[in-house]
Amino acid sequence: MSTTAGEDLHEANRGLFSSRRVFILAAIGSAVGLGNIWRFPYVAYENGGGAFILPYLVALLSAGIPFLFLEYALGHKHRGSAPLSFARLSRRTEGLGWWQVGVCFMIAVYYAAVVAWALSYAFLSFGRAWGDDPDAYFFGDYLQAGEPGVSLDFVPGVLIPLLAVWGVLIVIMALGVQNGVGRTAVIFIPILLLAFLALVIQALLLPGAGAGLDALFAPNWSALTDPVVWAAAYGQIFFSLSIGFGIMITYSSYVKRRTDMTGSAMVVGLSNSGFEILAGIGVFAALGFMAQASGVAVGEVATSGIGLAFVAFPAIVNEAPAGALLGFLFFFSLVLAGFTSLVSILEVVISAVRDKFETSRLRATLVVTIPCALISLIGFSTASGLFVLDIVDHFINRFGILLVAVVSMLVLAWGVRALPGLRDHLNTDGSVPVRGWWIALISVVTPIVLGFVLVRELVTVIQEPYGEYPQWMLFTFGWAAAVLVLVVGFLLTRIRWRPDTPIHGRGREEE
Ligand code: PFF
Repeated sequence: MSTTAGEDLHEANRGLFSSRRVFILAAIGSAVGLGNIWRFPYVAYENGGGAFILPYLVALLSAGIPFLFLEYALGHKHRGSAPLSFARLSRRTEGLGWWQVGVCFMIAVYYAAVVAWALSYAFLSFGRAWGDDPDAYFFGDYLQAGEPGVSLDFVPGVLIPLLAVWGVLIVIMALGVQNGVGRTAVIFIPILLLAFLALVIQALLLPGAGAGLDALFAPNWSALTDPVVWAAAYGQIFFSLSIGFGIMITYSSYVKRRTDMTGSAMVVGLSNSGFEILAGIGVFAALGFMAQASGVAVGEVATSGIGLAFVAFPAIVNEAPAGALLGFLFFFSLVLAGFTSLVSILEVVISAVRDKFETSRLRATLVVTIPCALISLIGFSTASGLFVLDIVDHFINRFGILLVAVVSMLVLAWGVRALPGLRDHLNTDGSVPVRGWWIALISVVTPIVLGFVLVRELVTVIQEPYGEYPQWMLFTFGWAAAVLVLVVGFLLTRIRWRPDTPIHGRGREEE
């Protein structure tokens, strides 16, 4: 495949990771996020415990890794942000990339808020600022969340860490692909691993840890016949591997040509799952201790998400020997894991703006991050932030990420018939041979399974409106947000590419 001088120049300007190792660390940084630490342990516990490993592995091998191959192939072959890679494949598919960009923009707005809370809590751990009632402290004193609704009273305890998170983010993003994104991963990921290992060891030494692990790993084999359990496994794998966001398309476009992409995908996928299991062990050891200390069953204290991090964990910190250290390690790990994921979703948006408008790194960074930071600051340092976050998160994960993944698989497989070309690209330098099984998985099996997951979610959301929110809030921050990203995405395809962005170069030959 030959390249033109224009393409080479364009590519040199976009930025490159200095090595495959940096790319792999950045991809692991994206994949290992809050989902691994606060979502996986509870999803596994709730869906069969030890028996969950089977649907989880099936989902990883039948959908997660194959879809990761697809995103790597798209970005690496077509060498562009999500919209540019799709546009180079076929002009008709560009909108899929913008849809992902929209989803990423929205997620960045609230993910930054969670990272900011975790940052506060890392410091609050030392003085156990939450006192005897962490629940009342988090929702009341810390977030000052009142009744669901919209309010404009700034909460300084959130505003200050959020400003700090955005300040650091803007600097890192402005530094570019290798010096900003790559270097952050190279520094943060080993520190995260060490901090988290220290946390797991400390948690395992707590009395009652064994009971927690028993609760997590005790297999409930009958769960395997429940379709809900299988749906949970597929949902977890997609979220956890950061696929369907356009992140992996963007990152792989910064990888030098002639690189083993399939081997890289295996390393990233297995490292992410390894971290999930480690997080399961750490979190459930701590929950086992909590259950023993309060004389209840582990099931009574097991939770996930915000409740686990900001309510259950502070309670554990109150009881545990050397609790301040335990709290610091936990929240510090959340900050590191969340931050590298946040960098990756912002990169999706910045890269798209840069490609489309041929603008400098600094300008694209500012154009993206300043509005995003402002929305995040206004939305989440006020008392209504929590409710909006919960609704947006619920809807966008389902009707953003999963939906975009299914649609893109179908379009690539059946609409523009891109899979054979992408398969050949992967096989040029890949260490894992990609054959007909991959095409069968991407074009038939995975879309059917994910389609089933989505339809189930849709029925649930319609039958039982999510949470206890007023209808107008669900409508505005849930449905309207999910539709808005789609509409804005397709409108952005109307803007022409700049003359110096070669669209008709690489990969057009299969059309
Ligand atoms: N893989 C990430 C996680 O497990 O948390 C998913 C993710 C969420 C990536 C949010 C990026 C992001 F901003």
